[in-house]
Amino acid sequence: MSEFQIFSPKEMDSLRRAGKILGETLELMGRLVAPGITTKELDRAAEEFIRSHEGATPAFMGYHGYPATLCTSVNEQCVHGLPGDYVLKEGDVVSTDCGVLVNDLYTDACRTFGVGKISKEAQGLLAVSSQALEDAVAMIKAGVKVGDISSTVQATVEGAGLTIVSALTGHGLGKTLHQFPDVPNYGEKGHGPKLPAHTLIAVEPIVCTGKDGIKEADDNWTINTKDGSLSAHFEHTLLILEDGVEVIA
Ligand code: MF3
Ligand code: CO
Repeated sequence: MSEFQIFSPKEMDSLRRAGKILGETLELMGRLVAPGITTKELDRAAEEFIRSHEGATPAFMGYHGYPATLCTSVNEQCVHGLPGDYVLKEGDVVSTDCGVLVNDLYTDACRTFGVGKISKEAQGLLAVSSQALEDAVAMIKAGVKVGDISSTVQATVEGAGLTIVSALTGHGLGKTLHQFPDVPNYGEKGHGPKLPAHTLIAVEPIVCTGKDGIKEADDNWTINTKDGSLSAHFEHTLLILEDGVEVIA
């Protein structure tokens, strides 16, 4: 489908509820991330927390057969890291990407955390990637074109000397997890589809410290940087308004 979905006030309420649970899940992840915890333990805590809310379920589980609540991507892993027995250690960076489904509506958000004390390089990567997302949030409103968002993210990332992982993009969502439009993290101002009010998009800079390029891992899910450089990922689900956005999660 190459059409924007527009959400009713009732659907927006479901999205807000899903988004609140998702935001709290990611806050919980931020409190739990520490040297010694496994990515599987994070996953279990996220699943339990989401399911403790009546009518809320983990949105990624079962999506194209995905077996977990979270994607936990460590260091050179960009996205879709499978939770497992890996024990987080001081100096790692880990992204916790998660979705919550309420009344058949999807939300999707991600944060990357440092584990204990991290290097200056890793601190810079996290700061710039999250700043790129916030710069996009600050300029998005109805009437903005997708290319305007893409070029905003690109300017922040490249302006800081870091690299966009160009194969991975943001997306529309709501009735499905991924739908029209793609929201690339690089592009040209003034290009692409124009956002209407009351549609929903996920903006998600995926950034690395090395060269652009990805490589799929043997588990058929995890996507790594090709050159093994560090990667970070921040994502918000945004409801588009006439004069700005509502950060759903
Ligand atoms: N946030 C992820 C994305 O937009 C969603 C992953 S779904 C999964 O690609 F099934 F792969 F986990
Ligand atoms: Co996403």
